[in-house]
Amino acid sequence: MSVIAIDGPSGVGKSSTSKEVARRLGYGYLDTGAMYRAMAWLCLNRGVSDPGDVVELIRGADLEITTDPDDFRVEVDGMDVTDDIREAQVSENVQTVSAVQDARDELIERQREIIGETTPGIVVEGRDITTVVAPDAPVRILMTADESVRIARRSAELHGTADAAAVEATRKLVVDRDAKDSTTTSFLSAADGVHTLDTTDVGFEQAVAAVLGLVEDTTT
Ligand code: DC
Repeated sequence: MSVIAIDGPSGVGKSSTSKEVARRLGYGYLDTGAMYRAMAWLCLNRGVSDPGDVVELIRGADLEITTDPDDFRVEVDGMDVTDDIREAQVSENVQTVSAVQDARDELIERQREIIGETTPGIVVEGRDITTVVAPDAPVRILMTADESVRIARRSAELHGTADAAAVEATRKLVVDRDAKDSTTTSFLSAADGVHTLDTTDVGFEQAVAAVLGLVEDTTT
């Protein structure tokens, strides 16, 4: 079982790179951020925000997530929430789940189960994969990029453009989320033995090639 662990903040190209690496290697792909989003969606849907109730709700939730990089779907209690979990309201409320340690522990356990049952290998992306979920993964990478580049990329994703107005509208979102996320996970600097891949001046194909290069170095 081979695990490729990829962490990093939003806007570094983590998802697109991870998916493509999985495709090229014939591996599975796990988007752990989608699991946090799905549980945040459930909490919003049920009007639950008290940490104790959040944990109870998550423990009893039926969360299904696919690991096929070409067929990504997330279901909660039988409902397809693949699109809903990308809504701004969910992004703004992920902390309801991600800031609660018992909720994290529950999701981490499920992530490890999925990793254990996916063959021949899996690319796992998130914020704490290289450090907590799979610290023994043979390949561990922290993707980074200058903040201005990440804001421009997120702006293009959200607004279809990175012009001045769109960038300004996106800046606060990215800066606020980084600040919130770094209170629960430490993904802004690489832990010991974790490779840093700075994508500030690196395009998609180059990033994919860099990850595949690291995989090859480890397996040969
Ligand atoms: O990668 P993303 O933006 O879809 O992640 C959504 C949120 O989930 C993000 O605000 C941080 C949180 N998250 C986390 O705390 N731990 C992970 N392993 C993945 C995501």
